[in-house]
Amino acid sequence: MFASANPGKPCRPLGAAGAGRCAMLHASSFARGWSASEFEKLLTSSSVVADCIGDAPRFQGFVLSRIAADEAEILTVAVDSAARGQGLATTLLGRHLANLARKGAASVLLEVDDANRPALALYRRFGFRQVGRRPAYYAKADGSKGNALILKLEL
Ligand SMILES: CC(C)(COP(=O)(O)OP(=O)(O)OC[C@H]1O[C@@H](n2cnc3c(N)ncnc32)[C@H](O)[C@@H]1OP(=O)(O)O)[C@@H](O)C(=O)NCCC(=O)NCCS
Repeated sequence: MFASANPGKPCRPLGAAGAGRCAMLHASSFARGWSASEFEKLLTSSSVVADCIGDAPRFQGFVLSRIAADEAEILTVAVDSAARGQGLATTLLGRHLANLARKGAASVLLEVDDANRPALALYRRFGFRQVGRRPAYYAKADGSKGNALILKLEL
């Protein structure tokens, strides 16, 4: 259904055992990190779908979504900074969207900083479209505020 840029890279479902690795990768990717126990809670929730990518034991990226009724929301996605720009997120998201569709999601929503060019390129590649905007939504490390775009994809 969704094209894979890295057909050789293994994607797999992510369980609670990956909470610590998610927390480390998340902390190095976002201004405000989530703790391992926050990830553990998410990864043990029956409404959360999580996938990761990387040849064991290297953990190169992950994506988490929550499904409610037939709507999914991508909660977070990150790829190790040393492995970015090689198509890993494209492979991972392709697999993840197919999983969400298989689990009954008819559409997917997410929020993204309007200055996050790699993330915007990633989502647009899959056909996400802007359905909303929240001005001055993100607090940045330098004290400025970033605008959030709300994007949606019909599966
Ligand atoms: C966003 C992120 C997951 C992309 O991961 P990635 O593995 O580098 O992405 P890919 O290599 O699959 O590339 C995806 C798209 O982004 C583009 N891209 C990658 N790096 C880029 C950069 N530095 N600047 C602009 N575009 C970039 C690619 O060209 C590709 O677009 P295309 O399909 O039109 O060619 C990664 O940059 C990341 O983890 N960022 C920090 C966390 C984050 O911002 N997550 C998203 C929150 S909403």
